[in-house]
Order: sequence, then C-alpha cells, then structure tokens
Amino acid sequence: MSENKLRGEVYYPTQKTLEKSQLKDRKEWDTRAKQDYLGFWEDFAKELHWFRKWDKVLDDSNKPFYKWFTGGQTNISYNCLDRHLSTFRRNKLALIWESEAGKVETMSYFRLHQETCRFANVLKSMGVKKGDRVTIYMGRTPEIITAMLACARIGAIHSVVYGGFSVESLTERIEDSQSRILVVADGAYQRGKIVPLKEIADEALQRAGTVEHVVVVKRTGEDVFMQPGRDMWYHELVNFPHANTHCQMQIMSAEDPLFILYTSGTTGKPKAILHTHGGYMVGTYATTKYYLDLQEEDRIWCTADPGWITGHSYIVYGPLLNGGTVFMYEGAPFHPYPNRWWQMIEKFGINIFYTAPTAIRGFMRFGDSWIKRHNLSSLRILGSVGEPINPEAWKWYYNVIGNEKCPVIDTWWQTETGMHMIAPFPSEPLKPGSGGKPFPGIEMDVLDESGKPVGANQEGFLVIKTPWPSMVRTLFNDDTRFVEQYWSKYKDCYLTGDSARIDEDGYIWIIGRVDDVIKVSGYRLGSADIESACVSHPAVAEAAAIGIPHQLKGNAIQAFVILKSGFQPGQQLVDELRAHIGHEVGPIAKPEKIEFVDKLPKTRSGKIMRRVLKAQALGVDPGNISTLED
Ligand code: WTA
Repeated sequence: MSENKLRGEVYYPTQKTLEKSQLKDRKEWDTRAKQDYLGFWEDFAKELHWFRKWDKVLDDSNKPFYKWFTGGQTNISYNCLDRHLSTFRRNKLALIWESEAGKVETMSYFRLHQETCRFANVLKSMGVKKGDRVTIYMGRTPEIITAMLACARIGAIHSVVYGGFSVESLTERIEDSQSRILVVADGAYQRGKIVPLKEIADEALQRAGTVEHVVVVKRTGEDVFMQPGRDMWYHELVNFPHANTHCQMQIMSAEDPLFILYTSGTTGKPKAILHTHGGYMVGTYATTKYYLDLQEEDRIWCTADPGWITGHSYIVYGPLLNGGTVFMYEGAPFHPYPNRWWQMIEKFGINIFYTAPTAIRGFMRFGDSWIKRHNLSSLRILGSVGEPINPEAWKWYYNVIGNEKCPVIDTWWQTETGMHMIAPFPSEPLKPGSGGKPFPGIEMDVLDESGKPVGANQEGFLVIKTPWPSMVRTLFNDDTRFVEQYWSKYKDCYLTGDSARIDEDGYIWIIGRVDDVIKVSGYRLGSADIESACVSHPAVAEAAAIGIPHQLKGNAIQAFVILKSGFQPGQQLVDELRAHIGHEVGPIAKPEKIEFVDKLPKTRSGKIMRRVLKAQALGVDPGNISTLED
C-alpha cells in the first residue's frame, strides 16, 4: 500500500472504521472533483430540497464576490425541518438537551418544527420581514436553536452574539447590524452561578438605539427589569393566539443572506461575516455527512456554543440538514465534577463527539481515572476544532477517550469558510497534530510574501485557491473591507490569516494566526477588541494586546498599558482593568498579564508594532525593525 510510505507518526483506521465510514476512498472523490468540480458540488446540492433548481452552480463573473447555485430557490430551515416530516424522521429525536443542573428535555423533528413555526409567527407579528436583522443573545438552551431556525424560516437574518460576550461587544453588534429585535434570556447558568444576560442587554440597549422589541426567554426565573412596551416574555408570546404551529415558509434565493456572525479581525471593529441560504447549506450538509460521518442512528455532540460558527454549522445546521440527533449541554465542562462530560456521553450514548483542544488539555489535567469509570464505547468519531491540537493532547484523546478505535477528525476552518476546509475523512491515515488535506477539489497552498509556494515543510501564508459553496460572501455593509481583508494580498486567492506548512505527503500543519487575531481557548478575539476596552477605562492613555503561548489555553492575552498622568500603576489597577475588560468585552477577554509601560513600539506612521512586543515578551529576536519609530 502506498499509504505505508507516509512519513512521520501515522495512525491507520481500524477495520471497523473502514467498514462503517461513509466515504471509503478519498482518491475517488479527489479525482471526481478535479475532473468536474461544479458537478461534484452539484451532487451534494441535489440531495437537498430546492423549490426551484439553480441555473448555474458557480457564478464567478464578479470576483471575489462569488455566487453559488444562482437562480436556485430554497430555504435552509425547510431543509432542516419540514423535509424530514414526511419520513420516519418526523418522530425521531432532533434534540436532546441537558441543563447544567441535570434536567433533560427532548424534541422530535415534529416538535422542533412546531416550536420553530410558533416563534417565526411571533417574529412576523412584530413586523419582522425578509432581510431584517434579529440579534440573539442567550445561553445554550433549546430556544437559541428555535430562534435561529425561526429567523431562517421567514428570511430574517440572525445575528447570534455569544452569551459570554458582554456590554460593549453586544452594543457594537446590535448597532452595526441595525437590529430591531433582540431575543435574550433572563440569564444563563454557568458553574452554578447566573450570568445576568438581560441586565447586560439592558445596559447595551442604553448605548445602542435601534431595538424596538425585546423577547425574553425565562431561563433562571430571577427578577429582571421588563420595560413596558419594549420587553415581552417568550413563553407568553409563543402561546399567544397568533403563534400557531403553521407558518408560511419564505422561499429564498440561494444567495439570500441567512445570517451574519461577528468575528474579530485584524483591526478596528468586529466584522460581520455574511453567509447565505444555498451555499452554506450545501457545505455544512456535506461536511457533517462525510467528515463527521453523521449517520442515521447517530447522536452527535458538538460542545461549542451556538454563538460561534462551530455551533452554527455543527450543532444546528449541518446535523439537522442530515436529519441527525443533536445533543446539547447547557453548562460548564467540569461541573460539578470533572467527569460531567463523560457521564453524559455514557448516559446518552453519544457517537460523534466534537470539541476543542483546550477542553481536551483541561481534562488531561484531571487524570484518566475520571474517564475510566465511564463506558464510552458508543463513541465512533472524535472531532477537534478551533486551534492546533498538540500531538500529546491528540494521543490522549485518541487513546483514553477513543480507546484507540475512534479516528480524531482534526478540522481546520473559520467563521469565514462556513464549513470544514481541511480534515481527514475517518477512513484516512491520521498524523497527530495535522488535519490532513483539504476537502476534495479545494486547492490550498502555502505562499511566501511574494506569492510563491514555499515548498515542502516550509512555513508561509495559508491560502485557498478555489471558491467553495459556503464561503463568506462579504462583510455585512462593507464590501471594501471584505476585499481588502481577504482578497488583496494575492490575486484570486483567499487569505486565511494563518501560517502553515505542508509536508511531503500533502498533510497541512497549521502553525497559528499571523495577524492580530488571538485564539484564547479556541475563542477568537482581536487585539483591537481588548485594546479599545482598555482605553475606555479612565486611567488608560494607550494600550496594546498580544497573544502569548499558554499551556492550557493555547494562547493567553498580555496587555501593555500606558497610564494617563496622575494614575499609579499597581495591583489594584491591574484588578480594576481586568474587571473592566471583562465587563466590556466578556470574561474570556481578560488579560492573563497586564504590564504598565512608558512607551509602545510604533512605526513612524504611528501603528503599534505588536510583533515587537511579542518578541520581547517571548525573549526572541523581533526580526526586521527598520520601520520602528525609534
Ligand atoms: C484556528 C473556528 C488549527 C485558525 C472554526 C483559524 C484551527 C481560526 C483549527 C478560525 C484547527 C480553527 N487547527 N487551527 N483544527 N480550527 N483554527 O473563525 O487559526 O473562530 O484561522 O472558526 O481558528 O477561528 P473561527
């Protein structure tokens, strides 16, 4: 077998995995996709429901504003729900949910469809129309899923804001999207405590003035402020006579927007990544089916939050498009004990488990005995996402959690790509620490500054050279920034912002971000988000934030702060600043370390050279500093 010639440490699929996995031979698909890339994608699209078939698979007449399945009409919510109702899936579980306190709720496809229709009718009664933006801000409860699907059903564009974000993050996202409706929970449970989401939202609504109606999901039952005329209870509305279980489907063009999702970029404000009904649907459907290998009898648990792209694509849309059974857990991983996750895998017989390296490293700390007391034999596929997985964590995941029988599907992708881009299929040989190769037909490369491929094992800029259906279409209301950010460094190449190397076997090894995006515990933050929160504190004149390697979190934030005159550096101010950043951006953005400095390294044009700060913090050579001001 030619596979025997693979270099480095390689894990081969077990016989059982080979027999079970839906894609047996990657090479066949590679060839097919190479010969007829559009036909290859069209075949996936044909497995879904279209009210009208597309005229063209790909329209690339206005690069980089690629369009997919143009002329086609569909609706992703219809494909997630209605499509299944005429089959046995009508009575199949769509969702199993466990609260942090251990309460379990389940919903069949039939019921999830009804709940979605009810809430869609509520939105309609509030005057929400196709193209309107709806901001959703809550914890991991079933209502977040029904709210997303309800928006999609009536053609509204959802903008989910992660429940771990705080006042300023929420304000910016509401303002930028010009949402008239906010769906929020009274609070969310986290480690037995309550995160006061409604209170945070009220503060944000004082800063952002677009919202007319606030729908409040009662999750905790704590007393919350309800503004008459503006705030209404979800449970009352969905029982309201208008909220019946039939809701006319909005027929959408393939290229009509489905959602925007804000993510941190290189500079300035978070960017609103825009995805569409048609292409995003096809991409998430295909990758859930073949990379995560979701099959009819499977239960899939993606531990991400629906507030991030991983939750959008692999808790909600991808699995439901496939008619799968989704498991979602509300709370914190180690709560109340470090065996919480393993207990639930056993209890619900989870087959596909998809999580982040940070979580894996977190569990490793507690030792194997917490796992050994549980029967995890239902597991078939293990997934990883969000940051590079170090080989040590990979092997622990494979050996201890997967009992040496489950492939680790290390999936590289981004909010912008919508779907997995690099990952091994379960039937492929694995190299710990590498996600393997791109999805068939998708060409990726590693380039140097001048745009030349760097050659085997050399580090460079990771780019994508082929358009793909679920690619970001633009940044909401900002085409210029879209082109600048992703399409201007190299001609007709999408710039990922990551550095990587490709080995002699074609396996891609991700090194990390090369821009000012910081991945903390797999969460995507921007230097700019943290810096602007810093300088909004009255004591701070200037600030710079960088990511530095951290054993557990992958990266941790370090901030450098110049104080205004009259303010004294000290531990008290450090604590105050951390609390302030937590309040403005969210707890995940709190710096690990804050250093007070007199000066920041800048270019002559006044741009902070974070690269130099990073080199200093790590005690390495800062490289070329000829542009440094002094
Ligand atoms: C990083 C998350 C290494 C990468 C889906 C990318 C990864 C950024 C992996 C996107 C992986 C994601 N291995 N790095 N398997 N998956 N990344 O938009 O730096 O939150 O550019 O999407 O996460 O983060 P985002």
